[in-house]
Amino acid sequence: MSPPLTTLPDPSGFAPHFVIDPDIVYLNHGSFGACSEEILRAQDTHRRNAERELVDFYVHNAWPLLDRSRRALGSLVKCAPEDLVFVHNATTGVASIATNHHLNPGDEILITNAAYPACANNLRRAADRAGASVNVVNLPWPNVTEDLIIDTIMGAVTPKTKLCMLSLVVSSLGYRLPVETLIPKLREQGIETILDAAHGPGCIPMDIETWNPAYTTGNAHKWLCAPKGAAFLHVRKDLQHGFRPLVLSNDARNPEEAGKRTGRSAFNHEFDYAGTDDVSPYLTIADAIQWLSSLFDDGMEGLMAHNHALCMRGRDALLDVLNIEAPVPESMLGPLCTLPIGSLSQNVNDIKAALRKDHKIEVPVWTAPDGSPILRISAQLYNTEAQYTYLARALDTLRA
Ligand SMILES: Cc1ncc(COP(=O)(O)O)c(C=O)c1O
Repeated sequence: MSPPLTTLPDPSGFAPHFVIDPDIVYLNHGSFGACSEEILRAQDTHRRNAERELVDFYVHNAWPLLDRSRRALGSLVKCAPEDLVFVHNATTGVASIATNHHLNPGDEILITNAAYPACANNLRRAADRAGASVNVVNLPWPNVTEDLIIDTIMGAVTPKTKLCMLSLVVSSLGYRLPVETLIPKLREQGIETILDAAHGPGCIPMDIETWNPAYTTGNAHKWLCAPKGAAFLHVRKDLQHGFRPLVLSNDARNPEEAGKRTGRSAFNHEFDYAGTDDVSPYLTIADAIQWLSSLFDDGMEGLMAHNHALCMRGRDALLDVLNIEAPVPESMLGPLCTLPIGSLSQNVNDIKAALRKDHKIEVPVWTAPDGSPILRISAQLYNTEAQYTYLARALDTLRA
């Protein structure tokens, strides 16, 4: 057991807004997000409004409230609101795409070795059913550059490649893929892109309309701090006709006609009511954006810049103690940063357990897709620079 450090570092001024246990140094916003008190209260208000008059809520009131969140999200990720629908998580987003996108026998889907497993699994099932296959390309790690990524991914394209899934921010390696270059390059070769932006809204600036992927899914329950079960799916206009939710509901036999009743497209209508459900996570997305935007003079841009700068200060503290060069240029990072920890002699499970049990630090310690040990830090409002210094000192005691 490594010797315990002194007292835990002071939390940030924003920490009292969050429900997170103050006795844990929580450096893992990236895995599940964390809600603020304000956001949980907003969700509670939506739930109570529903429970006061359920028929009014489900038959009338929920629709404009869904549109309110759709507008707030559309303006953040830069797309027409009506091209967005809500799903419970990015996994469901990819599963919906996998079910709807037509594949022919022999087609190939290109993914990276750092694709999120749940999303990759849904594509594999779709490929199996269609007699298609999934081709995996290895992302660079460490010594990462945008050019290297572009060459690596484009070099893995074959004449059979028809669909490609790219993470906007790669979960395990923490870096952003140059999607603004990759998506048009792939499309020039007849390949459509699924953009997995689970770490997207509120994490780094997004511009769906300019990037123009066929499909985008992203979580609001990560970097927008929305309640769990709040995510979106964007489908490019030319692919929306006949794009159906995984679960068909009452109006599935004539969604166009039903959509006229609720003043929306068949695409919006079918996703907006997929059976009785708690839609409060979706409705709270607008409140989460509003609250986060209110904290900085320049709104969400300010929040993203704050979290990125904090993450970089944390990275510097860790590079120092690990005595390594940065594996990824700063320009490819947002509020997440992964570092190689091969200089520590323990295995990843022992490091993880020591950090959690001896030092009360929650931080992911994993193996990278290439099998090498890594650690990923996240930076969100409730974190402070002192917490990363504390982590650095904890790693130092492990080395000793
Ligand atoms: C890149 C990426 N895609 C998809 C997911 C899955 O998100 P969810 O569990 O909300 O479906 C994650 C989760 O961390 C992720 O990092």
